[in-house]
Amino acid sequence: MNVVETIAEMKRLRRELVEPVGFVPTMGFLHNGHLELVRRAKAENSSVVVSIFVNPTQFGPQEDFESYPRDLPRDLAMLETVKTDLVFVPSADEMYPPQFDSWVNVEGVTERLEGAIRPGHFKGVATVVAKLFNIVQPTKAYFGQKDAQQVVVIKKMLADLNMNLEVVTVPTVREPDGLAMSSRNTYLKPDERQAAVVLYQALTLAQGLWRKGEKDAGRIRQVMREFIQQQPLAGKIDYISITNAETLRELDIIKPPAIVLLAVKIGKPRLIDNIVLV
Ligand code: PAF
Repeated sequence: MNVVETIAEMKRLRRELVEPVGFVPTMGFLHNGHLELVRRAKAENSSVVVSIFVNPTQFGPQEDFESYPRDLPRDLAMLETVKTDLVFVPSADEMYPPQFDSWVNVEGVTERLEGAIRPGHFKGVATVVAKLFNIVQPTKAYFGQKDAQQVVVIKKMLADLNMNLEVVTVPTVREPDGLAMSSRNTYLKPDERQAAVVLYQALTLAQGLWRKGEKDAGRIRQVMREFIQQQPLAGKIDYISITNAETLRELDIIKPPAIVLLAVKIGKPRLIDNIVLV
């Protein structure tokens, strides 16, 4: 496994990889959800590139950029186990030199949900992902369904900017009790970790109601809200949303393909999750 820090070196080694090339962009502090992306990329391509870069431009000024968990030796050991070919670990200066002035701004789908609560977040995500795509030139790139809005934003960017690759969405990997795997779960104290399962339980409650024939999105959102509020460690509910899965437009009457998304604070940490209604 080669590990490279510069864009020039990354481009040079990229030319030697056997096509097709799968790419998994990450911010590190890897968990089994990331490894599942790499396994899928490995199964569908001859070579796999993983990037590890805690992208400063997708964090707001009050957000957790400084405290975001980092452990490069552990990440590299994990990537060895899934036979990653090449790991790109650039510095912030390498990706954003002082003269950097160009941004990718996907409008529309970024205006709601995470985009409304984290202004500028998706501008940072779209910009770094576009740069990484240009540097790595993958055949396919792999993203987790856990960050459902991120996937919609990236697919829109691909379509709008005629980018020449395929984006593959991989199902969310969950802990045995249902909590979606996330690097930020490390922020949860033991009692918060137990309480955090309330997000998945609320989502499965919604799915159960829908499967029984409930189509009124407002009623399902209300049941979910009341369910979450019964959990003493659940704090602010940023949103509970039932939308079209492709456009992320809010639905009154549920019609597939639909998705239920939520963002809730458990103690201090803020968690997001979603479930596709099938
Ligand atoms: O999902 C993430 O970890 C990040 O948003 C990504 C796609 C690596 C861009 O920094």
